[in-house]
Amino acid sequence: MTASTFASSAEPKHHPDYCMAISQSLIHNLVNLLPHGPAISVLSIGSGTGLLESLLSPLLDDSYDLCGVEVAPNVNKYLPEQNMYFVGGTWDLCSQAAKAHVWMFTYPREPKLILRYLDVYDHANLSRIIWLGPKMDWQSDYEATFASSKFSRLTVLEDSGAAAYEMVVIAERPLQA
Ligand SMILES: C[S@@+](CC[C@H](N)C(=O)[O-])C[C@H]1O[C@@H](n2cnc3c(N)ncnc32)[C@H](O)[C@@H]1O
Repeated sequence: MTASTFASSAEPKHHPDYCMAISQSLIHNLVNLLPHGPAISVLSIGSGTGLLESLLSPLLDDSYDLCGVEVAPNVNKYLPEQNMYFVGGTWDLCSQAAKAHVWMFTYPREPKLILRYLDVYDHANLSRIIWLGPKMDWQSDYEATFASSKFSRLTVLEDSGAAAYEMVVIAERPLQA
């Protein structure tokens, strides 16, 4: 099954190259979650093979720059080289995060990495963090992490197109009173 078959699948389907099950509606919902603007930078931190990201890219116009971040160059299979950043180890951060408007974390390994990013690169133009992964991980590890962070306004995306045991959450800054 090719990556493009996934993009047109109504039901979420697993591809051996990606942790998150992918469906057409998941892809479209993710596109709709992105802010609009003249130059929007989206950074997928821990993009793995880049499969999901490569399915989003063709749906984005030129105002978007979608890049992945990984530890080892040989993990990436689907994103063009110029759309990839690499860090020195699992403890390391990518400085492009300081310019990105959206951070995506799909099946991150641990909440600590997100907290480190927020500590170092929280900046005014960062509009939202999109978290994708297993519901169990969200409830056990990530919900509390985000709830006590500056991005504590959490919205679980309904009918996200994810598998029944997975979810998509949008984390944003609290609204000003
Ligand atoms: C569980 S995998 C998920 C990969 C992909 N998002 C997916 O869903 O298939 C987590 C990925 O995060 C990457 N990773 C771990 N620490 C990282 C860091 N500090 N910066 C960027 N990527 C990191 C790992 O190399 C791994 O590919």
